[in-house]
Amino acid sequence: MAADPEALNRRGALAAYATETAACTRCRLAEGRTQVVFGVGDPGADLMFVGEAPGFHEDQQGYPFVGQAGKLLDKLLGGIGLTREDVYIANVIKCRPPGNRDPQADEIQACEGHLFRQLELIEPKLVATLGNFATKLLSGKPHGITRVHGRPQETTLGGRPITLYPLYHPAAALYTPAMLRTLEDDFRRIPELIAEGTSPPAQVIQFPTAVPQAPLPSAEQLGLF
Ligand code: URA
Repeated sequence: MAADPEALNRRGALAAYATETAACTRCRLAEGRTQVVFGVGDPGADLMFVGEAPGFHEDQQGYPFVGQAGKLLDKLLGGIGLTREDVYIANVIKCRPPGNRDPQADEIQACEGHLFRQLELIEPKLVATLGNFATKLLSGKPHGITRVHGRPQETTLGGRPITLYPLYHPAAALYTPAMLRTLEDDFRRIPELIAEGTSPPAQVIQFPTAVPQAPLPSAEQLGLF
């Protein structure tokens, strides 16, 4: 089958951007990292996950979600018939914060352009934000994940309509069984949300612009002549 030129362009543009980002020094995290953890998966995915920041294993291996939280993410994906090759996975912050501390506001600000560029290039229909940092950044609202998880929100990112779907972070669910059950429940809605995002817009019914009229009576018929 002939390669899809749009998919090839997208792959090329994302790879070029990853190469550029590998040398990023926009914030202090550049000093302590082993490498930039750009993102992984299908550049044309309809579903994109956005986590927080790389941890120890991600920093070592160069891929997001390869530690314990990543194993849980893989399992949750498997539960809805997907693998990580079917989706795209990235983080708000591309470099590991020392000791896995929370990202700081100026680090998020310095790094957000990378995430927004990824969103522009990948053009996902559904973006599942994992935890507070991704949810607050992409929704532009201060509401915490406990309040908004499992509630899809329509928004515009990179000039395109996107459905945001906030979820608990898998790392938080690892040790809290109630949170894990909620995360599993929320995950189950993902296939339906992808289908809604990818279905063509509802058919627009066209009404005729001119309503047919009965012919007007002639001047003779009206007795004018
Ligand atoms: N947690 C994250 O938010 N991202 C990772 O890549 C790993 C753990």
